[in-house]
Amino acid sequence: MAQPRYFIKTYGCQMNERDSEIMAGQLDQMGYVSSATDREADLIVINTCAVRGSAEEHALGYIGQLRQLKDERPEVTLAVAGCMAQEPGTIAWLTRYAPQVDLVFGTHNLHQLPRLLEQAQASDEMVVDVWKTAGEVVEHLPSHRKDGVKAFVNIIYGCDKFCTYCIVPFTRGKERSREMEPIIQEVRALAAEGYQDVTVLGQNVNSYGHDLEPARDLAELLAELEKVDGVRWLRYTTSHPRDFSQKLIDTIAASEKITHHVHLPVQAGSNPILKRMNRKYTKESYLDLIDRVKEKIPDASLTTDVIVGFPGETEEDFEQTLDLVRRVRYDAAFTFIYSPREKTPAARWEGRDPVPNPVKKDRLNRLMELQYQISWEANQALLGKSELVLVEGVSKKNDRVWACRTHSNKVVLIDREPGVNLLDQFVPVRFTGAKTFYLTGARRGEPLSPPVSRRRLELPML
Ligand code: SAH
Ligand code: SF4
Ligand code: F3S
Repeated sequence: MAQPRYFIKTYGCQMNERDSEIMAGQLDQMGYVSSATDREADLIVINTCAVRGSAEEHALGYIGQLRQLKDERPEVTLAVAGCMAQEPGTIAWLTRYAPQVDLVFGTHNLHQLPRLLEQAQASDEMVVDVWKTAGEVVEHLPSHRKDGVKAFVNIIYGCDKFCTYCIVPFTRGKERSREMEPIIQEVRALAAEGYQDVTVLGQNVNSYGHDLEPARDLAELLAELEKVDGVRWLRYTTSHPRDFSQKLIDTIAASEKITHHVHLPVQAGSNPILKRMNRKYTKESYLDLIDRVKEKIPDASLTTDVIVGFPGETEEDFEQTLDLVRRVRYDAAFTFIYSPREKTPAARWEGRDPVPNPVKKDRLNRLMELQYQISWEANQALLGKSELVLVEGVSKKNDRVWACRTHSNKVVLIDREPGVNLLDQFVPVRFTGAKTFYLTGARRGEPLSPPVSRRRLELPML
């Protein structure tokens, strides 16, 4: 009999991407093979994100579409996983509107996928198994990572910050750090397999280790990972400004491998709004942190997340955000319109004191316009400079161009040369053009000694 095939559709952040790799690893062990599309799959897993209404709508739209596929091939198993599954509202919705779904499981029990799948396949009813709280950290799960040189490694799960707009503490549970030793071993094993660009993951990596015995911290962990031979670049995501310590800044400044990309989500520039968001810093203390980062890491590439239209945000509050963006001069910013999330305090305030929709949109536009100008200027300042980039793939928009990233995470496009395969290699380039969202560059030397990734060998030449 042909091996059954699975297709996993992943929404949301890198934590979800990593969870999908662990699901895939378990399915490989069960004898499944991965499928490039949902059309040929015998099992489809939808790994959902709940962070904003738009993320939920995308996943629900896709689940709706699968109804037809299930009508045509009733033997296909449909499973819904991820952050939306942790919300009681989703279960009620699926039961009512998406009876084609066979299995629902959450973020805390994805390590039980084999058992859950067997249960669902033996049952005529939708099987729902979602844990309200997280268990102990589970080590040694199988994993199916993407072939290449980039790898993600979890270091802390959950979030204890309870920002008043955010659903994540409810969908991911309380903070649990992995012990340092298994993390180091995982990174050593990855380096031995040829992964050279390693990102450590958590909803708030800056609180790494506070719950361990003895307590550890992110600076300590990164300093240990720096010693792993074969790892060329080290990244971390996401960090909360409140716990971004001077020790961490000093560790990054002294490191050869830790990225100089510093992502510090600010969310808002107004102190009253920051207070109501429960961010536990002020505009002044945030700007002081940025000054300390710039002092020790002068070439830091700074990025942020901003929410506009938080309940009660006045024009004066919003001006404070614009002022902060002007002062920091971020390389890039992810900007969002506030989206009310079930169970969060801010959702109740939204009911009483919402910012009108047109005002939200206008603020988003004004913020983006300002940031785009600053991003363009920041990229212009790099013209003529040279850096090492990692060639990540062929550009989706133009197959004659390689899409690459700098160590500080900027996108760089370089022309493909006939007969030259640079995929998954580190290549020196000089920046020849600068736009708002990317740079263009020209190769100015030979690639560093290449890892031989499978996908590199499979890529057709130009
Ligand atoms: N742990 C990360 C955030 C993950 S969510 C951190 O604290 O940085 C990524 C971003 O989504 C947040 O930084 C925030 O800007 C945005 N976000 C979260 N909840 C939101 C909501 N309810 N509405 C709009 N944006 C939201
Ligand atoms: Fe959400 Fe705040 Fe936790 Fe980030 S730190 S995941 S924004 S609660
Ligand atoms: Fe979304 Fe869950 Fe990540 S809500 S952003 S997938 S932790």
